[in-house]
Amino acid sequence: MSSANPAAAPDAVLVVDFGAQYAQLIARRVREARVYSEIVPSTMPVDEILAKNPKAIILSGGPSSVYEEGAPSIDRALFEAGVPVFGMCYGFQLMATTLGGTVDNTGAREYGRTPLHVSKASSTLFEGTPTEQPVWMSHGDACSAAPEGFSVTASTDVVPVAAFENDEKKLYGVQYHPEVMHSTHGQQILEHFLYRGAGLTPDWTTGNVIEEQIESIRAQVGDRRAICGLSGGVDSAVAAALVQKAIGSQLTCVYVDHGLMRKGETEQVEKDFVAATGVQLKVVDAQERFLSALAGVSDPEEKRKIIGREFIRVFEQAQAEIVAEAPNDQPVEFLVQGTLYPDVVESGGGTGTANIKSHHNVGGLPEDLEFQLVEPLRQLFKDEVRMVGQELGLPEEIVHRQPFPGPGLGIRIVGEVTRERLDLLRDADAIAREELTAAGLDRDIWQCPVVLLADVRSVGVQGDGRTYGHPIVLRPVSSEDAMTADWTRMPYDVLARISTRITNEVRDVNRVVLDVTSKPPGTIEWE
Ligand code: XMP
Repeated sequence: MSSANPAAAPDAVLVVDFGAQYAQLIARRVREARVYSEIVPSTMPVDEILAKNPKAIILSGGPSSVYEEGAPSIDRALFEAGVPVFGMCYGFQLMATTLGGTVDNTGAREYGRTPLHVSKASSTLFEGTPTEQPVWMSHGDACSAAPEGFSVTASTDVVPVAAFENDEKKLYGVQYHPEVMHSTHGQQILEHFLYRGAGLTPDWTTGNVIEEQIESIRAQVGDRRAICGLSGGVDSAVAAALVQKAIGSQLTCVYVDHGLMRKGETEQVEKDFVAATGVQLKVVDAQERFLSALAGVSDPEEKRKIIGREFIRVFEQAQAEIVAEAPNDQPVEFLVQGTLYPDVVESGGGTGTANIKSHHNVGGLPEDLEFQLVEPLRQLFKDEVRMVGQELGLPEEIVHRQPFPGPGLGIRIVGEVTRERLDLLRDADAIAREELTAAGLDRDIWQCPVVLLADVRSVGVQGDGRTYGHPIVLRPVSSEDAMTADWTRMPYDVLARISTRITNEVRDVNRVVLDVTSKPPGTIEWE
């Protein structure tokens, strides 16, 4: 498969990625401040970075210590080009050492929520924010002396120099992570850098993305045909809606009903999505096929492989049928994918051709499918995709649908997947979703997997009798990007209602347990 590699938009703030996924969050925060941002790898030579004409540069955090052998470094020229630079955590330490400050390997680690003492309230970054504010720290080394020409603007109990700035040269840095929610004034400080430090105007929106994309899809596809695999998830739905708007009946969507969907989801795609978009939809009922392929399999990786393989087979068959049904029409040459910016970044920083991770595709379509890709969401983050979906008039339930894994309930049954177990889990899941919605918690919770421990039984008592049933696990998590997550502190009364209803209404379930593990160390899905 091949994909056009859209040129970097001009006027971006570039986030230099030193690893550990902080860069994505920073880029999102910059866009939340309505300034367009893109990520570049830290291995990119400085002259290349500068050749992109960035409006400002942010150096991200990263897992290394500046003292480690082979730790990523940055050429001093970056700080001398007159481009405003903001260093965060590792980026801050790199800025300090590169410009002649001192960073000590003190061994005094600071991790988690830490009080920051702002010593220069009139500084560009901190003006208008409290002199004491909680910030999120994650470091072992500490800056003890700022480079010449810099003024120290904040400290912590452990670190004498926790923030500094050189307004004249437009260089700023903080030891902590302003991009994470736990740094309560982090967004304000980032905005101060963007608007006051770098003099940028907040004028970037997703509004013009639609028009831009429609034009470019029309140019790419011409009068040929395209297909799109719909999963019911927001990404493929928005991508399909956008392409439908651009090329209308030249697009056919394929929805593979593998029987691993939650209650009502297939109907949602069949009815609501089609009603909202007018898209041509081909639904393939492949439930039997998936169930028999999964029979006897408990290993999660094995299940994933089987689901992926079957999905491809069904999809290819559907594609052949679409061609056979209208053999004289233009060829089907394009495949629409809901690839998002994080997928692009993770597969090479958006600088090379797409190396698509199977995880992010509907079923993980193989490279040797003879298609050119249409990926209208390549520059967008998830929340931006939702905004585009909303503007395209997609139903609320699709636009704000919580993330759901491609292999569906197949990986939310720990143990073998059978029709009975799927039905049981679907019922439990529907109850949990109903109660969460009724309690108005849908937007507060990133997602709430409901998991069936099919291989576990425990003793219970119901009515007058002893039971020996399965536990259901509730896994409500709060997250911004699913890379890290915390378990959601949900109201007890909602948990109680879900538990009572599930144990009363779902046969064979006699316990409901709550997963109180963050990610890491746990993942979001159980599998
Ligand atoms: P984990 O379990 O790795 O999940 O913490 C992170 C996020 O990814 C979702 N997920 C998937 N999404 N195909 C998808 O489209 C998959 O195979 C898949 N596996 C996990 C998961 O729901 C969570 O949002």
